[in-house]
Amino acid sequence: MCGIVGYIGYNEAYPILIEGLKKLEYRGYDSAGIALFEKEKIDIIKTVGRLEKLEEIADGNSPSCQVGIGHTRWATHGRPSDENSHPHRGCNGDFAVVHNGIIENYQKLKDWLIKEGHVFSSETDTEVLPHLIEHFYQGELLTAVREAISRVEGSYAMAVMCFREPDKIVCIRKDSPLVIGIGKDEKYIASDIPALLAYTRDTYILDDGEIALVERNGVKVFNGNGEAINKEIFKVDWDQEAAEKGGFDHFMLKEIYEQPSAIKETLEGRIDLDKDEVKLKEISLTREEVQGLSKIIIVACGTAYHAGLVGKFALEKTTRVPVEVELASEYRYRNPIIEPGKNLVIVISQSGETADTLAALRISKNLGASILAVTNVIGSSVAREADSVFYTKAGPEIAVASTKAYITQLIAMYLIGLYLGQLRETMAPGEVKEILDGLRCVPNQVESILASVEEVEELARKISTRENMFFIGRGLDYAVAQEGSLKLKEISYIHAEAYAAGELKHGTLALVTEGVPVVAVVTQRHVYDKTLSNIKEVSARDAYVIALALKGDEEINKVADEVLYVPQNLDFLMPLLTVVPLQLLAYYAALIRDCDVDKPRNLAKSVTVE
Ligand code: AGP
Repeated sequence: MCGIVGYIGYNEAYPILIEGLKKLEYRGYDSAGIALFEKEKIDIIKTVGRLEKLEEIADGNSPSCQVGIGHTRWATHGRPSDENSHPHRGCNGDFAVVHNGIIENYQKLKDWLIKEGHVFSSETDTEVLPHLIEHFYQGELLTAVREAISRVEGSYAMAVMCFREPDKIVCIRKDSPLVIGIGKDEKYIASDIPALLAYTRDTYILDDGEIALVERNGVKVFNGNGEAINKEIFKVDWDQEAAEKGGFDHFMLKEIYEQPSAIKETLEGRIDLDKDEVKLKEISLTREEVQGLSKIIIVACGTAYHAGLVGKFALEKTTRVPVEVELASEYRYRNPIIEPGKNLVIVISQSGETADTLAALRISKNLGASILAVTNVIGSSVAREADSVFYTKAGPEIAVASTKAYITQLIAMYLIGLYLGQLRETMAPGEVKEILDGLRCVPNQVESILASVEEVEELARKISTRENMFFIGRGLDYAVAQEGSLKLKEISYIHAEAYAAGELKHGTLALVTEGVPVVAVVTQRHVYDKTLSNIKEVSARDAYVIALALKGDEEINKVADEVLYVPQNLDFLMPLLTVVPLQLLAYYAALIRDCDVDKPRNLAKSVTVE
C-alpha cells in the first residue's frame, strides 16, 4: 500500500514523478504529494484526494528542478488529510521522506523525539522518520538514514532527500518493495516496475535491509551490515504497452480480455507435447520428497485464497494428499502444525508482497515446510524467499480487482497438481492427457465467453439497483461463487455473500426474500440435482435466480429466471470458465452504478500491511 517514486537526473523531475505516481495509484489513492529542490529549500506540494488534485495544485507551480520524490497514499496511521499526506519533513525542513509500510514503534519514537524538542505536524507513523534522520544527521545523509532506521521496527520502503546534499537520494527497504531504474545519467526509484517502464528496463530490485545511495551517475547498494554489494541488474521484459489501458475504458476490462493470452502464456513451455506430461523445472522437490508428502497447505489472501480453494480440489484429485487452504492473516497467528520434510506449503500471491502471505511463508519455512510460491511478480518478496517459484505469466495487473492473475493462478494449481500427481503416480492412465486436452481448449472457450458480453451487461443492469445478493454453488462451483461474490462487492459495493448451496437452509435462507438476486453456479454434474433442489428452495422464496450453467442444459431454464451459459469442459476445469461471466457481471454492475472500477474505495492493489 502506498506508492513511492523518485527521480535524479538532468530532466525536469516533476512530470516524471507525476507519471510514475499515475502508474502506482493502484497502491493507494487517498492523497498524494511530491518534494522538489528549490534554491532555498525543499519544496513540498501535497494534498488529500486523487493525483489529479495534486496536479491541479502543482501544475505550473512546481519549481524547475531535476531531483525529487513523490508519494501516493493509502492511509493506515492518520486519516487522509493534507497534513497526513507524504512527503513528510522534520523540524528544520532539510529532509523530505516518502514511505510505504508501517513503523510499529512510532509512538515510542515520537514520544522520545518530542522530549528532544521535535515538533510534529501530522498523525502519521511516517513523520518520525524525517525527525529521526534530522536528529542523527552529522553531514552525511546515508549515515543518518542508517542510524535512524536502526531504531525503527516495522516495514518500510523509503526514499529520502536532504537539502544539504542535493545530488543524492537515499532509499532503503524492509518488507515493502522498492526498485531502482537505471538510465544513462539518470536514476529512477519506484515501488513497482510499471512506474519505470517508460524510461528503462534495467533495474536493481532491492532486498530486505539493503540501502542505496542513488546519484545521477551511479547507484551504490549496501547490505544491512553496511558492506557495499554488487547488485545484479535485473532486466524487465514487460513492455510498457502491457501496463497501459490499450484502448479499454478500464484496466479491469482490459485485464479480463487478456485472460485467453495470459492462460496460454502460463501454459507455454510447461507441457511436454510429445509425452502429454506436465514438466515444471521450477519445482525443486525430488520424486522421493513428493512421494513422501503427508500434507499440502495453501496459504493466501483474498482472490488468491479463492484460487487456493480451487487448488484444493485440483491437488487432492491428482495427488491424493490432503490439502488445507488457509487465510494467511489467520494462519500466521496460529501455531500451525507442520511435519518437517513432509509438508509442502504453497503460497499464492499476485503481487508477491502481501504482508500476511509473506509472514505465513516465513513461519512455514521456519517450521521446516518446503515452500512453493505462485506469484505474478518476478523478483517479489515471496519469490525470493520461497524454495521454488511458479511464475504466473499474466503480465502486469493494475486494476485493484484481480482477474487475469486469478485465472492464471488456477492454471498454476492445475499444472502443479498434475505435476505432483505424475511424480506420485496417483493418476489413472490417460487422465493427465484428458486434463491437458481440456486445458488446451480453455483459451478459445474464454474467448467465446468474451465475444458475447451483452447478456451479462443486461443482467448487470437488472441487479445494479439491488443492495444484497447471494452466490451459491457446490464443490468447485462454490469456490468460484466465493470469487464472484468478492468481485461484485469489491467494485460495485453491492453487498454479496457466497454460500455452499447445501448450507443455505441452515440460516441464510432467512435472508432470501422476494426479488433478492441469487447467482447459482451449476456446472458440477455429480451434484447437479442437489444444486437444482437448492435453486428451487430459493425460487420458492421468490428470489431472482441467475444460473450459470453448461451450454446445452435445458433443465435449468425451468427453475432459473435467467441463465448464462458457458461452454462445456471437464467439470474439474469449469472454474476457468465460470469465473469470467462473474468478473464481467461485477464490472458492468460497477460501471452502471458509477463506481470507480479500477480504484474501489478503501482498497489498494498490494496489501503490504497486516
Ligand atoms: C482481489 O480482487 C483483491 N484485490 C484482493 O483480494 C487480492 O487478491 C489480495 O489482496 C491478495 O493479493 P496478492 O495476490 O497480491 O497477495
